[in-house]
Amino acid sequence: MSETIDVADLTPAQARDELARLALLLQEANRAYHADDAPVMSDADFDALKRRNGEIEARFPDLIRPDSASAQVGAAPSDGFAKVTHAVRMLSLGNAFDSADVREFDSSIRKYLGLAEDAPLAYTAEPKIDGLSLSLRYEDGRLVQAATRGDGTTGENVTANARTVADIPQQIAGAPDVMEVRGEVYMSHADFASLNVRQAEVGGKTFANPRNAAAGSLRQLDASITRARPLRFFAYAWGAVSEPLAETQTAAIERLAALGFATNPLTRRCNSADELLAQYRHIEAQRATLGYDIDGVVYKVDDLDYQRRLGFRSTTPRWAIAHKFPAELAWTQLEAIDIQVGRTGALSPVARLAPVTVGGVVVSNATLHNEDYIAGRDSSGAPIREGRDIRVGDRVQVYRAGDVIPKIADVDLSARPAGAVPFDFPTHCPVCGSEAIREEGDSVRRCTGGMICAAQVVEKMKHFVSRAAFDIEGLGAKQVEQFHADGWISEPADIFTLQARFGDGMQQLKNREGWGEKSATNLFAAIEERRRIPLDRFLFALGIRHLGEVAGKTLARHFQNWETLRDTVDRAGGEPAAEAADGKARKAAMEESPAWSELVSVDGIGDALVQALVAAMRQPAERDVIDRLVAQLEIEEVAAPAGEGSPVAGKTVVFTGTLEKMTRAEAKARAEALGAKVSGSVSKKTDIVVAGPGAGSKAKKAAELGIETLDEDGWLTLIGQA
Ligand code: IVH
Repeated sequence: MSETIDVADLTPAQARDELARLALLLQEANRAYHADDAPVMSDADFDALKRRNGEIEARFPDLIRPDSASAQVGAAPSDGFAKVTHAVRMLSLGNAFDSADVREFDSSIRKYLGLAEDAPLAYTAEPKIDGLSLSLRYEDGRLVQAATRGDGTTGENVTANARTVADIPQQIAGAPDVMEVRGEVYMSHADFASLNVRQAEVGGKTFANPRNAAAGSLRQLDASITRARPLRFFAYAWGAVSEPLAETQTAAIERLAALGFATNPLTRRCNSADELLAQYRHIEAQRATLGYDIDGVVYKVDDLDYQRRLGFRSTTPRWAIAHKFPAELAWTQLEAIDIQVGRTGALSPVARLAPVTVGGVVVSNATLHNEDYIAGRDSSGAPIREGRDIRVGDRVQVYRAGDVIPKIADVDLSARPAGAVPFDFPTHCPVCGSEAIREEGDSVRRCTGGMICAAQVVEKMKHFVSRAAFDIEGLGAKQVEQFHADGWISEPADIFTLQARFGDGMQQLKNREGWGEKSATNLFAAIEERRRIPLDRFLFALGIRHLGEVAGKTLARHFQNWETLRDTVDRAGGEPAAEAADGKARKAAMEESPAWSELVSVDGIGDALVQALVAAMRQPAERDVIDRLVAQLEIEEVAAPAGEGSPVAGKTVVFTGTLEKMTRAEAKARAEALGAKVSGSVSKKTDIVVAGPGAGSKAKKAAELGIETLDEDGWLTLIGQA
């Protein structure tokens, strides 16, 4: 393949072909990464291809293509958002991969500025955050616009979404009249992991890594989804400013910090290439424990006057460079494949590995996803790893990509031991022996043992006491395992009868290792405290598939009390359905019932969740467990939410003309908080037009279409904020 030919040996014809191939490959990769949030290759592979592209172009400048990756930053914005043209282009960074590249960076800057090798020249070194860049525009101290990078010239308007990010101030004092603050939106490892758990529970999209999760969360057309996602922001640069922020990069960042922006604490001022490299090693050593993804260290010339003089190449500044970390990959031996059983009965294969260091962390376990993944195919049967399966004894490649759980990425067939056999995925639960089946369309095999499966029972109870569920102080995963092993609890209701069942429960508990009078008293008090539980937490605690925190809240808000929800679910799975003989006919009959329709018509509640809910409530053993639990509890009703009953919920509103009592952005945010959709143009779909003085064609069009038109006061009266 031409990729293996050294750049120095390429003939012009080969170079032309190679540049065409690289342009296509890099464009596809760019689109997948930026527009689809679903990368098709690792960052390291991407960088390697881009580097090769650059090297060939340097040798054959006449062959540079107009669609070359070296002329592009990111990908063109997608269609769902309004476009924003950046006042100052948002650029990318050139890359350095080793210390020679860093020294070359330093000497080329010195040369450009006419500075001697030993003349003082300061830089900053800071982590390169692996998120997505965002430009925030402040006018008179108020946040008026937030835009993604897009292709560097035009980005997407994500203002409503950015307003939901806690690290992004809405209002600042003491800033220049116009100031664009730039930085990175990212998600922490912990938040990423729990988001994926929640997503999986509701049958939603799970994300490959925190960067994709951050991008997918920020680029939501519905800002309330962004609000529910824990995004963060580090400021590290700026765009248009009406007056200079400072004289040095260091002072400018300090100023941004003083204005209330989060800035990275690992940013250092360095006085030489050696100091830059020392800071690189320092940051790399911290990488594993930072709690968020970084993929390198960015060096910037400190003096802003030097930055101005150095200026830009086509897409990258001369005064900054990103020193990338090597990919977090390692090879080791797969010693065993264990099967874990989760609370919904899912059989998850776990790779037990000969311990190996991957990006500074010792890894001895990794996920193998499911049986298809081990066999070398995806859920649709298409080959992955070119169809190579994974066997115990194989040499495997371990991969850590921000994701807290390492993965097995590849296998080295040349090192396969003689006698290694394909992995035989169990068809029975390794814990209770019940049959484990795979439903159509499900990539996961599940134990059918339900409440007779000890693994499911314990996992369900661990979930039951977890933070977002009952959150009983003093009763965590460890205690649940202990109490279950002792036969004290075998279902959630047992937790609430512990004290009564033992008569003097305290005495028994007190005598146990690790428990004293005080901790026992506290535990029983904590259990008592949780007898009253909000409906949404109760629902989430049940551990029903697809019923995550968000769905719990949604159902609670809609049905308001347990009895109404229970009766609706009973009706949905009820009489007519029970009569139908076979499964398919029963399902069809159920789906026709008005109760089923009511359930699936709740915004945010999908078919899969309703099916799981109905199944859990119809299955006699599971139902008994739920009923016994309910008998122990007082489930709190949920009051009708503020947004509901709002006169503008679900309506499409257009603001036009000058608003006098609030900014356009504020009006939009308030309307959205009340459940309205705010649009920029009037159409047949518009419900209300709010027209201030100077309203022109939009007000006219509204009149033509007979759309309700209000002035600002009329609007404020309508939404009860006059
Ligand atoms: S400075 C003109 N500093 O990396 C250069 N960028 O590969 C402005 N990034 O588009 C960028 N951490 O999204 C800068 N500390 C940092 C960064 C950083 C992450 C991102 C940013 C940029 C990309 C370039």
